[in-house]
Amino acid sequence: MSGSTGLDVAPGAPTAGAGEVLVEVRDLEVHFPIKKGIVFDRTVGHVRAVDGVDLTIRRGETYGLVGESGCGKSTLGKAILNLEPPTAGSVVFDGVDIASLKGEDLRQARKRFQMVFQDPMSSLDPRQTVEALLLEGMRAHGLDTDKAATHARLRELMSAVGLPPAGLKKYPHEFSGGQRQRIGIARALSVGPDLIVADEPVSALDVSIQAQVINLLQDLQDELGLTYLVVAHDLAVVRHISDRIGVMYLGGLVEESEAGELYAVPLHPYTRALMSAVPVPDPRLEDSREQILLTGDLPSPANPPAGCRFHTRCPWRQETRCDTERPQLRIVDVAGAGAGHRVACHWAEEIARGDIQPHEVDAAAVEQPWSAPPDDGSAFLAPDGPPVP
Ligand SMILES: Nc1ncnc2c1ncn2[C@@H]1O[C@H](COP(=O)(O)OP(=O)(O)OP(=O)(O)O)[C@@H](O)[C@H]1O
Ligand code: SF4
Ligand SMILES: [Mg+2]
Repeated sequence: MSGSTGLDVAPGAPTAGAGEVLVEVRDLEVHFPIKKGIVFDRTVGHVRAVDGVDLTIRRGETYGLVGESGCGKSTLGKAILNLEPPTAGSVVFDGVDIASLKGEDLRQARKRFQMVFQDPMSSLDPRQTVEALLLEGMRAHGLDTDKAATHARLRELMSAVGLPPAGLKKYPHEFSGGQRQRIGIARALSVGPDLIVADEPVSALDVSIQAQVINLLQDLQDELGLTYLVVAHDLAVVRHISDRIGVMYLGGLVEESEAGELYAVPLHPYTRALMSAVPVPDPRLEDSREQILLTGDLPSPANPPAGCRFHTRCPWRQETRCDTERPQLRIVDVAGAGAGHRVACHWAEEIARGDIQPHEVDAAAVEQPWSAPPDDGSAFLAPDGPPVP
């Protein structure tokens, strides 16, 4: 079956399979060793880039993943595509644990999931023509055996992403940024994938071009029944394109919901802070909105805070549980929150009801692991060690 692009529709992907799970991520951890040493590398710690993520992506949907720089979005995306080996946990793609695949099975599976990168200039080899770039993946999967069919497919790919067939003979530098991203999308489509992980697909583009590329992704999804994981730090981008959104903080998901509901009823303090930073066009609405300023930087994923990872910056942090017990992503009993709305906060219900009020975040507690200096000028006291002069 083909859509108006002339390209193949992902197997089993159209509406018949709506709601069916395509990707199932369970307890996923991806830790990178921190090495030190001149002669022998010693592992002195680990960067916990992804640290216990559970999520499902349904066939035909767009799952948007947002969060600050360094929170682990790209690493999670790569782990889903089997480009980054998991330290623990599993990724099941269409019923098969991808870590169990080897050799030809892995090669065959790779055809079904592809990536679109943030910066098309650095992800496209400048020495290759567009034709060569598109043929590369097709050749690797044996999709170029019939010359006439291959030629027709290359032209279809160009037309699907809104580029003229004459562009096949050109090099990436001869295109604008938006056109290069279209080539990146055509390359991902060339092997007929079911899932595309698009990592910040429009962040390198002018705002005026961003909407065109997002619309193109949506049109292709409608026609080909594709499933997307779209990674972005910009809430406005994911809002437009996503069916569901996951908010990530320091290696973990803190909230997940249908896209519209996340914007209407944000429940996790971190999501509320992100939302309050998104400008709205109506100045009256802008003035009346909740403004939550986050104090302090994102803590290091090599040494994440105990308990709730957000507790060092959370305006709703409580004396009990927040510093000691890591909250699980759970369905919450809050008006307006549906069964698919999950939040990792011990106090989500109390915060939503207004039983707990936000307070100032103690900057000293955020920046210093030890207590503030006493007024009498005596030494700092480290919690587990000798006094620090
Ligand atoms: N190959 C690697 N080796 C060591 N550390 C890594 C590696 N890749 C990523 N990291 C670290 O893992 C953490 C998460 O990185 P990641 O690139 O997944 O974040 P991100 O959310 O995609 O950030 P950004 O929005 O800046 O792209 C960061 O602290 C990063 O420095
Ligand atoms: S668990 Fe505590 S620190 Fe974490 S988000 Fe909720 S209130 Fe804030
Ligand atoms: Mg990234």
